Amino acid sequence: MTEKRSDGMLWTPLEVRGVRMANRIVAAPTATGTADEEGRPTEAALRRYGALASGGVGLVVMEHHAIRPDGRVRRTQYMLDRDELVESHRKLTALFSEANVPVLVQLNHSGGLLRDAELLKRPGFVPVGPSAVPHPSDEFGVVPRELSREELSAFVASYAAAALRGLAAGYRGVEIHAAHGYFLGQFLSPLTNRRTDQYGGNVRNRARLLLDVADALRDLIGDEAVLSVRLGMADVLPGAPSRGGLDVEEALWVARELVALGVDILDLSGNLCGYDGPGEAYFAPYAAAVSERKGRALVVCTGGIRRRETAERLLREGVCDLVGLGRPLFADPYFLRTWKE
Ligand SMILES: Cc1cc2nc3c(=O)[nH]c(=O)nc-3n(C[C@H](O)[C@H](O)[C@H](O)COP(=O)(O)O)c2cc1C
Repeated sequence: MTEKRSDGMLWTPLEVRGVRMANRIVAAPTATGTADEEGRPTEAALRRYGALASGGVGLVVMEHHAIRPDGRVRRTQYMLDRDELVESHRKLTALFSEANVPVLVQLNHSGGLLRDAELLKRPGFVPVGPSAVPHPSDEFGVVPRELSREELSAFVASYAAAALRGLAAGYRGVEIHAAHGYFLGQFLSPLTNRRTDQYGGNVRNRARLLLDVADALRDLIGDEAVLSVRLGMADVLPGAPSRGGLDVEEALWVARELVALGVDILDLSGNLCGYDGPGEAYFAPYAAAVSERKGRALVVCTGGIRRRETAERLLREGVCDLVGLGRPLFADPYFLRTWKE
């Protein structure tokens, strides 16, 4: 891993595991609703991501893909739950390899947090989670079925299989989604994880499944594939009073454990509080705290970054190694033109 720092470092290349990023700007994962009901990219997906591939970012994290049929957030979500999908996803990754832009695929499971009530009408669709308690953001009266300890090892295998499918489809690596209150975020939070076994209680236990998944994926994907974790750093936004959920001190411990397991990128966000905060760069305090003891990992700060000067400052001050842009690129894949002018 090499890192060069200078003034104007926004446009400075960076390399991780032989994967070269032309600059420090990451297209943050943003669900586009452009998959068909089987979880395959549609023509609309190819148009949208084709534009993003030529938009000038250094790295793209592709929107969340469900690792299992019971882990879908909505019907138009991408899926990597079965081998026959791999071929269709190659069309998407080809857009990025042609443009020479590295792309990672984000892997997710919804747990007890769905965004589409239609899924609940499907025969056999039963939301599952750490505990049979409703999610604080639940809109549909979902009470997930509590998973048994034995079932959790099957989850590690599902993440692993989805990761291998992602690499077979041409992704340069994978990002484990452990933020925004989805499945692994539900394990991290004591508000949604009430377990009394070794997966609940203190943060070591609540993070066990995430750490098991990260450990398995690091071994499996090999030295040339990038491993990223989108980590929800707290259940409230920076500066807000605690509501008894995951707190920053706990998340910092998890971040350090992930680095020790060989995670390459820590892509920081909120957990049960979601990703939207006030002002510019609202997650910078989390990024700065993680960057203090990040070892060899690269830290991504995303959330409310709108001005090039802000991005430059975050990099210059060592708050992060990469800056993420979600909504600006979602609204306009060529948004970076405004920063280059
Ligand atoms: C429409 C939309 C879809 C999103 N989908 C995802 C997703 O699939 N995975 C994820 O980790 N974050 C997702 N996010 C969060 C973004 O990656 C990002 O963290 C958030 O928008 C804050 O950054 P911004 O202020 O630059 O938009 C989504 C955000 C939006 C607005």
